[in-house]
Amino acid sequence: MRIGVLGTGIVGRSHAARLVDLGHEVVMGTRDVSRSLSVNTVDYMGNPPLREWLDRNPQVRLTPFSEAAKHGEIVINAINGMHALEGLHLAGNENLDGKVIIDITNPLDFSRGMPPSLFISNTDSLGEQIQRSFPSARIVKTLNTMSAPLQVNPRLLMDGDHHTFISGNDPEAKRVVVQLLEDYGWRNVIDIGDIASARGPEMVLPIWTRLLGVLKTPMFNFKLVYER
Ligand SMILES: NC(=O)c1ccc[n+]([C@@H]2O[C@H](COP(=O)([O-])OP(=O)(O)OC[C@H]3O[C@@H](n4cnc5c(N)ncnc54)[C@H](OP(=O)(O)O)[C@@H]3O)[C@@H](O)[C@H]2O)c1
Repeated sequence: MRIGVLGTGIVGRSHAARLVDLGHEVVMGTRDVSRSLSVNTVDYMGNPPLREWLDRNPQVRLTPFSEAAKHGEIVINAINGMHALEGLHLAGNENLDGKVIIDITNPLDFSRGMPPSLFISNTDSLGEQIQRSFPSARIVKTLNTMSAPLQVNPRLLMDGDHHTFISGNDPEAKRVVVQLLEDYGWRNVIDIGDIASARGPEMVLPIWTRLLGVLKTPMFNFKLVYER
């Protein structure tokens, strides 16, 4: 399948590499290709320069956001939360029209330091804002509640016996995304409802960021126990 991955951070890179391993044709989007390739230092998250990563992942082609979105039958939104709408506008409404958009973004505001706060919450979510801004795209929020390595390979912990959520308005789009999640190795995907239900998983982030500080590792996730 042709998949466009919007974002060059750890999330975009993790999905792009895993999708290539699964046999997909992946194009990764960035704002400015030559500027992204000219960076030769590790980024603020400690990720190596993108050029080095692309050398190790030659099947991933780097293009502007718009070309990556156009390429994708499915588009993954791994843009910084503060700039997600801006980035998707660069991708272009015409290139997102009718497509399944897997939205992994979090509305995190780091402007007042750590831990970050949420710049949208409670009565709205970033997932909903994206859906309202791109009404013809089919937004499915998922995987925003765990770190990138676990998103694409949940079996790294407890053989995948932990949970992710899925929110979206379009049942067929959710079916497509669940299939992809199962290909990643997810066994426990809970459909929590329409795109407004993305408020819950986005509001999990304040506890996630505090757990990161306490556990000193990003390799953890939430597991639900419940009566069936
Ligand atoms: N890190 C994690 O493990 C994790 C876990 C769950 C969810 N998330 C969410 O996933 C998303 C990606 O996270 P990340 O850590 O991989 O990377 P990130 O640093 O949050 O975002 C990197 C991407 O955002 C784009 N970007 C930054 N400023 C922009 C602007 N003004 N306009 C348009 N695009 C802009 C960058 O574009 P360029 O390529 O042009 O630089 C880059 O592609 C975020 O929303 C984050 O909250 C992250």
